[in-house]
Amino acid sequence: MVALETDRLLLRPWRVEETAVQRDLWAERDPRVPPHRRIDAGGHPTLAELEESIRTGQPSSSIGLLALERRAEGDVIGYCGLIESDRGAAGEAELAFELLRRHRGQGYATEASRAVMDWARSSGHERLWATVWDWNTASRRVLAKLGFTEIVNVKGD
Ligand SMILES: CC(C)(COP(=O)(O)OP(=O)(O)OC[C@H]1O[C@@H](n2cnc3c(N)ncnc32)[C@H](O)[C@@H]1OP(=O)(O)O)[C@@H](O)C(=O)NCCC(=O)NCCS
Repeated sequence: MVALETDRLLLRPWRVEETAVQRDLWAERDPRVPPHRRIDAGGHPTLAELEESIRTGQPSSSIGLLALERRAEGDVIGYCGLIESDRGAAGEAELAFELLRRHRGQGYATEASRAVMDWARSSGHERLWATVWDWNTASRRVLAKLGFTEIVNVKGD
């Protein structure tokens, strides 16, 4: 099990009792996010479905998407971690992060990402990817602060 610490955060696997936080993250997503990543008209994914994915979905071979627990408050405010990428060479991973709206703008995504990138470096990763829509100014700013290099995809996918 991977757990990482920063000044303000503990990054560690999700617990089933935190399913509601995941549902809130889904519910708060910008309408410009593709539909398959938003709650659909039938209310899916439901709390039960998300709980099941926490129960069964912890990857063992990589870091996955870790819950961000604030060390002082003990609450979970979002996630940060690595997912499989279809870009670059085989096995290269993609950095991903998302915070509940009320906790944005306080440097948490940048702080968490730095810990994930340190972990990646020490685990032998040579390059990480991140995919971001043009309109996502906050995410683009985080990636710039982290030192990512922009590659424009002219196809827009
Ligand atoms: C992207 C996200 C994780 C950033 O989290 P965060 O903890 O607020 O990020 P940080 O505080 O570390 O940094 C945000 C930076 O963006 C800037 N920013 C935020 N909104 C902005 C806006 N609308 N215009 C310009 N800059 C903006 C902040 O000022 C800050 O930069 P600064 O440190 O130079 O002032 C958060 O906005 C989020 O959850 N968004 C929805 C999910 C998402 O887009 N995930 C990434 C998918 S690619």
